[in-house]
Parts: sequence; structure tokens; C-alpha cells
Amino acid sequence: MRDRPIGVFDSGLGGLTVVRELRRALPKEDFIYFGDTGRVPYGSRSNETIARYTLQDIRFLCGFDIKQIVVACGTASSVLAKLAEAPAEAPILRIIEPTARLACRTTRNGRIGVIGTAATISNRPFQRAIAALRPEAQVFSQSCPLFVPLAECGFSKGECARIAAERYLAGLREQQVDTLILGCTHYPLLKEAIAAVMGPEVALVDAGEAVALELREQLEEKGLLSLRERAGRTEYYVSDGIENFGGMGEEILGEPVLGQVKRIDIEAY
Ligand code: DGL
Repeated sequence: MRDRPIGVFDSGLGGLTVVRELRRALPKEDFIYFGDTGRVPYGSRSNETIARYTLQDIRFLCGFDIKQIVVACGTASSVLAKLAEAPAEAPILRIIEPTARLACRTTRNGRIGVIGTAATISNRPFQRAIAALRPEAQVFSQSCPLFVPLAECGFSKGECARIAAERYLAGLREQQVDTLILGCTHYPLLKEAIAAVMGPEVALVDAGEAVALELREQLEEKGLLSLRERAGRTEYYVSDGIENFGGMGEEILGEPVLGQVKRIDIEAY
């Protein structure tokens, strides 16, 4: 059981920002990553559609006899919470709770900003998690629909990203938040632009590190950490666009990815 792989998914390549941290915190684990590149973005779709996509992604990963699922997508995480039943044979870790916990530990003035896709912001999962942890905290939110396409198309640094960040984030800056949750796993790719608008006194909390540390704790507690000698391996699956995913993945992870990416038909799941 302990040497089974961990399944991770996102609508595209944003979840690789989580994989990067997972691999740092859990170097012996094997990962199976699925990026739904044929149907990205999720965040502008209805909850019904996002739920259908999310369940298909989970069914695909469950075919690998995994010991854990990590939902490396804020949007899918926000919709999963609304489903009556946990849909998988493996435990599911969503990015919401670990990230909210880290934000609550980080804030000094109790004013927390949340940015995410349109679906995540309207589903309010971070607000609920923060209210349970620190009821006195004030939460200010903003959807940033252009950030995902900018990241997927390789425009996460430079002029376009800066203009979009200024437009979306000026209001949050005025609210004097001291902590900003990057509630979408694509957003760490735009960190430079986001930090430039928010200023150095605002802490940016991204899901990757929070999720990686929490998963390590959970696996340790359950006696499910891999003890194997060799370094962990990662396999990548996408529903379209292998080249773009491979190229961008290499930039994010700092190692060749393209040769390990396979395309699958997610509609078959
Ligand atoms: N990385 C996904 C998230 O965390 C992006 C969602 C999308 O595809 O719009 O929300």
C-alpha cells in the first residue's frame, strides 16, 4: 500500500505548481498527474459541468491503484465540497483547507484576500474554511478570469500579466489585506505580477506548499509514506495538447517532461 502512487489532477498545467512542492516534500513518492488540457479552463463553467469533469478525472486516476488523490485545482476543489458523496476509492485532499489554515496562521491584521476563478469565488470555499478557523477574520475576494489563459499560453510574466494584475487587484490592495490566498493553482505562475501590485508587505499564500506539508503529515500518521530507496517518479497524462504542456511543464518543474506525457480520452471515463 505505501508504495502505491499518488494521483494529482488539475484542469491544465496549474497543478504542476502543486506537483513541484509535493515532490520536494515527498521525494520518494510516485505521482500520476492528469491535466485536462482539452477542457481547460474549468473556472468559467457551471458547477454541474465542473462536477462532471472532476468525477471523470477522479475515475481516470483511480484506475492506477493510487493511495491518495490530490485535487490540485481550486475550482474542482470548490465543487467537490458540494457533492453529497466522496466519489473515490482513495482519500481525497482538496487544496482549500490546508491553504486556508496557512493563511490564518500568516495574517497579522486579520484581513485576508482570496483570488480565484469565477467558480471558486462564487462557491466561497475559502470563506467557509477561514470562518471555521478564525471567525473574526475579514475576507475580501476577487475573481481573475484572465489569469488562467495567460498562464496556459505562456504569458504569465511581462506586460500582459502586469496589466491584468493591476486591474484585478487594485481593489484588494485598497482593502489593506496583509495576506493573499492564490486560490487557483495557476496563479503562482503569475506571482511576480501579483507581488508587484500587492507590494512586499502582503504575504502571498499558494496552495502547493500548504498541501504538500499537510499530505506528508497525513501519510506519516497513517503509516503510508513510501520507504523505497529510489527517487519517486512522475507520469503525466493530458486530454489534449502534449507539446504545450510538455514545454510549459519543463519550465515549471525544471526538468524534461515532454517525453513522459501521454494523451488519453477523458470522455471515456
Ligand atoms: N488551476 C485551476 C484552479 O486551481 C484553474 C481552473 C480553470 O481551469 O479555470 O482553479
